Amino acid sequence: MSEIVKNLRRRWKLVIGLLVALFLFSVSVGIAGAYVLAFTSTEEFCTSCHEMSYNLAEYKGTIHDTNRTGVRAICTSCHVPHEPGPLVLAKLKATKDLFYTYVIPSIDTKEKFEAKRSVMAHRVWKDMMESDSHQCRSCHRADKMNLELQSPGAQKRHAKGKADGKTCIECHYGIAHNEPEGPSPTELFGKTALKAE
Ligand code: HEC
Ligand code: HEC
Ligand code: HEC
Ligand code: HEC
Repeated sequence: MSEIVKNLRRRWKLVIGLLVALFLFSVSVGIAGAYVLAFTSTEEFCTSCHEMSYNLAEYKGTIHDTNRTGVRAICTSCHVPHEPGPLVLAKLKATKDLFYTYVIPSIDTKEKFEAKRSVMAHRVWKDMMESDSHQCRSCHRADKMNLELQSPGAQKRHAKGKADGKTCIECHYGIAHNEPEGPSPTELFGKTALKAE
């Protein structure tokens, strides 16, 4: 052990050089990573593939694309987690979509997209049921909603929804895209997801 320390002492210039190199390397990896995260979080990045798969056309003109105040929810606002850990995991998981774009294209025609729509929608619903609609809540804070300013219908449903322990996606699905055919999120996941917590 003391031999190693002695050796290192003799080569202190090399040691410092290595430490500086390691530091610079980590900084560049960090910066490159930040660029990748930022680039893959833009609307342009998502729609470079999803324009073809018709999502963009359906989303255009909805309340989250254009509204009175110009505050928007873009693809990533609703589809990517907001904490750093889950965010990176979600990005890694999404690399499967490279496979379904370039190796076995799964949604490159309207027919294929429609055939796969409910499978994909159910993945999104499952995620939102399990996270108590985390993505929606990153903008819509239930505790900051002024119920008095809401329509009477919304007031009533929100009070009842809260009492019944329901989450946003159980009532507000099909808000950014055409609604998929078949069962609703509650019918699919209602019994397991939220209540399990
Ligand atoms: C390289 C092309 C490509 C890019 C870029 C891309 N996607 Fe996808 N995406 C796909 C493909 C292909 C599928 C279908 C996957 C399948 O068949 O299982 C898909 C599926 C989805 C689904 C359905 C749920 C699921 O996991 O299958 C969502 C939601 C989605 N993408 C959102 C996004 C968002 C948000 C972005 C931007 C951050 C994005 N995509 C960027 C190709 C892409
Ligand atoms: C990036 C922030 C953001 C996210 C994420 C988001 N929203 Fe919104 N939402 C808005 C804004 C902004 C409006 C428009 C408010 C206005 O101008 O009236 C809106 C409007 C709405 C409305 C009102 C529709 C109407 O016709 O008045 C509903 C319902 C809604 N959002 C539900 C959801 C649900 C459910 C989710 C999750 C799937 C979600 N939002 C995710 C920002 C967001
Ligand atoms: C039990 C069903 C239910 C649940 C759960 C629910 N909503 Fe609603 N929400 C409604 C109904 C019904 C309306 C009224 C729709 C209308 O008037 O067109 C509404 C209206 C809204 C509006 C528009 C308010 C207005 O006055 O224009 C927003 C925004 C909204 N909901 C967001 C959310 C968010 C975010 C969550 C989760 C924290 C949520 N809702 C949970 C049923 C629900
Ligand atoms: C306001 C939140 C919101 C925004 C913004 C949004 N999505 Fe979605 N997306 C959802 C929800 C919720 C679902 C689950 C199905 C449903 O309820 O419509 C979904 C489903 C999907 C699916 C599965 C197929 C389908 O149609 O159900 C894909 C792919 C997808 N979104 C991609 C995108 C892309 C690309 C964008 C940006 C152009 C985008 N989404 C913007 C909330 C959103």
